Amino acid sequence: MKFFIDTAELSEIKEAADMGVLDGVTTNPSLAMKAGATDFEGLIYDICEIVDGDVSAEVVSTDYDEIVAEGRRLAKIHDNVVVKVPMIRDGVKAIKTFSQEGIPVNCTLIFSPTQALIAAKAGARYVSPFIGRLDDISSNGVALIESIRTIFDNYAIETQILAASIRHPMHLVECAEIGADVATMPFDVIDKLIKHPLTDSGLEKFLADWDKLQAQKEGQPA
Ligand code: E4P
Repeated sequence: MKFFIDTAELSEIKEAADMGVLDGVTTNPSLAMKAGATDFEGLIYDICEIVDGDVSAEVVSTDYDEIVAEGRRLAKIHDNVVVKVPMIRDGVKAIKTFSQEGIPVNCTLIFSPTQALIAAKAGARYVSPFIGRLDDISSNGVALIESIRTIFDNYAIETQILAASIRHPMHLVECAEIGADVATMPFDVIDKLIKHPLTDSGLEKFLADWDKLQAQKEGQPA
């Protein structure tokens, strides 16, 4: 399973990359706004220089010709760029064009199995089902991942399922059990994957016992 970080904050991307578990990055206009990234294309370049993996850069156009022009511009920033396109009709047409041109696409704002199937048929490299936002409206986000996995496996579809809008470690565990290809997570969720209270208390005891042993050694006659 590939781990992507879902942020536009360079400090978080560097920290996750230093952990050695980062396979890519996803950004979106809201994350760019949160990071205060006024030079969005410059930011995408900087991210691509840090992470040797797919970096999603989202178009903000909603008309076919404009999506294609914007996506081609984003794709030229760096070889790592994957153009993120929303699941709308003009977006689907643009995905087809990008796939014919060899420009990789992450189709975003996926909330149903039919949307995922359409994006895959159009040639997207990734589909991004937003599981947290479905949970927010009393729907079952993880069940959507399961349904898409079944459909893609039935037809040996190579489009990768990129579980997005992940809010906590159990989302990640359930997506991994189902077989999502990728999970994109905010930095705080990646950090929580490491933590366990028994690890902390266990380490505390090991270190305290080691100190006691050193004190005993120092007390022994030479
Ligand atoms: C990633 O590609 C998505 O943009 C992101 O995961 C959305 O997450 P949110 O629902 O927490 O905004």
